[in-house]
Amino acid sequence: MSTEERIERLRALKEAAMEPGSRRALDRQHDEGKLTARERIDLLLDKGSFQELDMFVRHQATGFGIEKQRPLGDAVVTGWGTIDGRTVFVFAEDFTRFGGSLGEAVADKICKVMDLAMSTGAPIIGLKDSGGARIQEGVVALDGYGRIFERNVRASGVIPQISVIMGPCAGGAVYSPAITDFVYQVDHRSHLFITGPEVIQTVTGEQVTMEELGGAHAHATRSGVTHFVAEDGRAALEEVRYLLSFLPRNNMEVPPFFAPLDRPDRMDEELTSIVPDAANQPYDMVELIERVVDDGEFYQVHEHFAQNIVVGFARLDGYTVGVVGNQPKVLAGTLDIDASVKAARFVRFCDAFNIPLVVFVDVPGFLPGVDQEHRGIIRHGAKLLYAFSEATVPRISVIVRKAYGGAYLVMNARALRADVVFAWPTAEIAVMGARGAVNIIQRRRIAAADDPEAERERLIAEYEARFNNPYVAAERGFVDDVIEPRETRPRLIRALEMLRTKRESMPPKKHGNIPL
Ligand code: HXC
Repeated sequence: MSTEERIERLRALKEAAMEPGSRRALDRQHDEGKLTARERIDLLLDKGSFQELDMFVRHQATGFGIEKQRPLGDAVVTGWGTIDGRTVFVFAEDFTRFGGSLGEAVADKICKVMDLAMSTGAPIIGLKDSGGARIQEGVVALDGYGRIFERNVRASGVIPQISVIMGPCAGGAVYSPAITDFVYQVDHRSHLFITGPEVIQTVTGEQVTMEELGGAHAHATRSGVTHFVAEDGRAALEEVRYLLSFLPRNNMEVPPFFAPLDRPDRMDEELTSIVPDAANQPYDMVELIERVVDDGEFYQVHEHFAQNIVVGFARLDGYTVGVVGNQPKVLAGTLDIDASVKAARFVRFCDAFNIPLVVFVDVPGFLPGVDQEHRGIIRHGAKLLYAFSEATVPRISVIVRKAYGGAYLVMNARALRADVVFAWPTAEIAVMGARGAVNIIQRRRIAAADDPEAERERLIAEYEARFNNPYVAAERGFVDDVIEPRETRPRLIRALEMLRTKRESMPPKKHGNIPL
């Protein structure tokens, strides 16, 4: 065979490898409003940057007629490319072939790109659209998942791992995305569950649709499995590109710098009136954050879950920061189980990837209730305390209004080694709110008064005058400076500049034992 003929053959093979499973499967994919694996990769990566691997891999399985069907590349497309010029690795499950199911060959291909991502220190992105373990391959398919899970764990904290759920993802297969740092779900097209509606109905008698059980809405609002919901596949992939703009490629790097349009010394007069004079009136923490950060750009993570706390990425003078803030608009900004877990996981991500933390505090305490206590607010609340305490990245707090009791500490207080703590003049730092405090420590005095109610109000006013300010804390150095709200941005930027060379480490240990 001449060289030219050999090249012709190569081209034909590559073309065959790029074919969908069948015309029918392709049409079905498109009719359902889904993109193919290759279309997805093209949208995700910089144009023309995709370098494919393992196009010639074929499964070796036999039985149930599968040996007659051995498409080149099997049911996943893998390789690397760039996003904004930086290398990322990607695998995209191909639902048009064997329903994207995972057998030995698919697992081998995925493991190969995961290993390359680890050894080169580049993010890995999984585009998920699969019927799960390939039934014909049995335990070999299960082993394949096991090998992927183990790599997910090994890579955790070393390279960013992102999962985009674009179709079904069922059974044990869900544990790979669950371990990754960020999960995107395409609305109405993707479903995640351990056991599907039919099994649930058989076992528990509960009736539920696939969408109610494992749709984007369910996981973004109820279970917290999903961090981001996108209206379609295209939007999801666009968002992944945006997310990566905030992240370093690995734990040995710092995030990329983007020169802002915003000036570092910009004051924001609107911040002066953002906190209402009445202590119990809500305001929007997201608006406060957007007024402080570069160009008003704040990318919320877990936006629809545990909305009493907000977390997300922004930049200050061009440098990525992870922002955490209590949200007074929801549950008065109290910390509950979900909020604690949401924020703790975010804090740990930022710490692992050298992203400084900026914390806006307005927290009246933990959410009281038997349900919260019995479901474990003690151990879940401890997660956030633990996460802040062990974080060695720069940590700055701004106490905006309430900082009461244990929640004051948990929200990155000085005692947890916060590097810089600012407070606004509106800050109230105390063991608890004035009314609760007076009712406890002045009970006898109130009871003995001629007019107990008048006495109670007088004592509350006295307590407020004494404690509802930032100066008691500042007198002790728990607060480093009381700043005007309008100067928050420049003061944060100066502090972050100072902290850029921060080097701190935890005592040597195998690992800690966070209360899971
Ligand atoms: C082999 C599979 C498959 C699988 C789908 N297919 N899932 N082949 N192994 N797991 C094939 C189908 O036979 C079909 O082939 C094609 O893919 C498309 O599937 P459809 O059923 O026609 O698609 P749809 O109606 O959209 O339904 C999608 C689905 C359904 C909901 C995912 O296919 C399904 O329920 N599949 C099984 C899911 C499952 O139970 N997987 C095992 C989960 S346990 P043809 O040739 O007809 O086009 C698991 C364990 C992991 O994954 C454990 C890790 C520890």
